[in-house]
Amino acid sequence: MKLPDAIERVLLGEEVIAARVRELAAQISADYTDAEDLVLVGVLKGAFIFLADLARHLTVPHHVDFLALSSYSRGAVSTGAVRLIMDTRASVSGCHLLVVEDIVDTGYTLDYLLRTLRARQPASLRACVLLSKPERRRVEVPIDYLGFEIPDVWVVGYGLDYADRFRTLPYIGALKREMYE
Ligand code: PRP
Repeated sequence: MKLPDAIERVLLGEEVIAARVRELAAQISADYTDAEDLVLVGVLKGAFIFLADLARHLTVPHHVDFLALSSYSRGAVSTGAVRLIMDTRASVSGCHLLVVEDIVDTGYTLDYLLRTLRARQPASLRACVLLSKPERRRVEVPIDYLGFEIPDVWVVGYGLDYADRFRTLPYIGALKREMYE
């Protein structure tokens, strides 16, 4: 397979991702068999592909909603300040909320999101995250369902971007360091 010039290597191939997404969906389906009003809350933009695949493997009834956040950064360094730029379409109070995120890096975004959603008094609140970079964590956040732990490299594909590029690559690739250092 010919990789784009900016990509160093494939970190997680299509089949590896698909198998893990099916496992996560099976686990979530088992945990939510008795839950009414399960809402998957996808965080735009990065989670759109993961959420689409995960949701289609769930065997329990659910709704899909989205919100968008913006994090303030100086260059590649997150300042930790997060802002809600698009809210969910429906009210989430009283619902079983499952936040669906592509990646947790410093943890600032998920921390902000869980605090914001908890204040709306959902019936329950959990997080399903495809990728985690434990080395980069600045604030501890609970991840109830995790796809993969990865090293501290810039990853793109399967929803993840570099300057809004590479989101629709079918695999997760590591970007060449010279692209971002
Ligand atoms: C990414 C990712 C998470 C956040 C994680 O979003 O989707 O929301 O960063 O980083 P943190 O743990 O350090 O807070 P990004 O701001 O790149 O937006 P995008 O999803 O639109 O690409």
